[in-house]
Amino acid sequence: MPNARISLCCLLVGLLSVASLAMGQEANDPLAQPHSLDQTGFPHELYQWLIPADNPQTPAKVALGKELFFDKRLSEDNTQACASCHLPAKGFTDQQPTSDGIHHQFGQRNAPTVLNAAFNVLQFWDGREPTLEDQAKDPITNPIEMGMKNLDEVVTKVGGITEYQDKFKAVFGGPVTIADLQRALAAYERSQVSFNTPFDRFMAGDEKAISDQAKRGWTIYNGKGRCMSCHGVNPTQPMFSDNRFHNIGVSAHKSDFVPLARKALTILARGGGAQQLDVLAIQTDMSELGRFLVTRDPHDIGGFRTMGLRNLLVTQPYFHDGSQVTLWDVVDHYNKGGVQNPFLDGGIVPLGLTEPEIDDLVAFLATLTSPEYAQAAQVEYQAQFKRSRTDRPQRDTAAAMGITGRNGPGLGGPFGDIGPAQMGENPALLGGD
Ligand code: HEC
Ligand code: HEC
Repeated sequence: MPNARISLCCLLVGLLSVASLAMGQEANDPLAQPHSLDQTGFPHELYQWLIPADNPQTPAKVALGKELFFDKRLSEDNTQACASCHLPAKGFTDQQPTSDGIHHQFGQRNAPTVLNAAFNVLQFWDGREPTLEDQAKDPITNPIEMGMKNLDEVVTKVGGITEYQDKFKAVFGGPVTIADLQRALAAYERSQVSFNTPFDRFMAGDEKAISDQAKRGWTIYNGKGRCMSCHGVNPTQPMFSDNRFHNIGVSAHKSDFVPLARKALTILARGGGAQQLDVLAIQTDMSELGRFLVTRDPHDIGGFRTMGLRNLLVTQPYFHDGSQVTLWDVVDHYNKGGVQNPFLDGGIVPLGLTEPEIDDLVAFLATLTSPEYAQAAQVEYQAQFKRSRTDRPQRDTAAAMGITGRNGPGLGGPFGDIGPAQMGENPALLGGD
């Protein structure tokens, strides 16, 4: 009898390790588990509202979605899971400028976090998918991400795995379908909510939750830094994003927008729908056109979604192309008035921020870190701070202070105005609701 027990036990261990081979170790990470909704700053009503009527959250569905999220068998050659580019330990990103997909092919865009993606009004940097359900199918069939030929192939492959047959039947009452697979993935993603930051506690009334330096940074964020005009925060925008699209000049330095836009229009006119759009966005030089690919409206050329600002110190590097290494580089970009181009958003102007003000602003951004990432963020903050003392590729003090035109003397005199001086308001009374 003890022997039988041992062999049963070995058999189970063996089965589990086969499953975990396909699943990858990341699935066992405590950071990968569904999160409690009981967090300071968590917008309960908004969250309930954002859950689609045809896809209610249930523990069994979330667990199924989690298995799928970590399962490399969703890719053509069993090498890529969603989690390959959205790692829990890295704030559900890969911390690379752009992602390494199937057969080590790199795309054009930085992988955003899945944390709090439930609150995105549209998904992707260009908002080309409206919901998490719609989004979930795209990477699976993208040729350089997970590489499956089409959605039928996905259903055949996943539907051929006995454990999934059983689980889909239990959760959805039928065989594996692509719509239910998308529902399960989206349900798991909606369980990855991450609030409870020092700043959330500060806004809830705990004056001591953030430092004096971060309080000064919050004042700058709302005033001289003009961050609030796009990264607004209130109960319906809990992610510090207006969920709109702006050209802030990130892609301007490497794109000749007009010929590129013409080329994109020619290709889009041939049809191809969502899959064609996905390929243009991920794989081609037309990626830099951003929102224009979706709307074909010239005002949207080089426009990207205002990204949320939570947990930035585990989701580096920054911007849609991962071009900025530190938060100091990001602030330097804004401080000099972005990179000039004919489609630049009117809200991007030289800010005149001094070095101590830049440090204060970054200290504020650091308070948007959830407790489960506090330690990793602290290490990253120190590394970025150190780097920023010597290495500031985006710094252009003369442009920031309005002494020269933006991007060097070639463009003539100063554009726009310099941010207003601080009024010295009590930072706790600014913004929020
Ligand atoms: C090869 C890397 C890679 C894989 C694999 C991958 N993603 Fe992504 N993910 C990305 C990149 C890059 C983007 C941004 C693309 C864009 O905006 O055009 C993204 C965007 C997203 C977004 C949008 C987030 C936002 O803020 O807009 C979600 C949600 C997401 N992925 C979930 C998934 C799911 C679910 C899977 C598995 C089915 C998956 N990803 C597989 C790289 C990857
Ligand atoms: C005109 C609107 C606008 C203003 C003003 C603005 N932002 Fe942004 N922000 C955006 C957009 C749009 C993006 C994404 C741009 C891209 O990648 O091309 C972004 C991206 C970012 C990112 C990168 C996020 C990531 O995950 O990669 C950070 C950090 C950021 N902004 C901080 C700030 C700060 C700090 C300020 C104030 C100094 C500010 N922003 C002002 C619109 C704005």
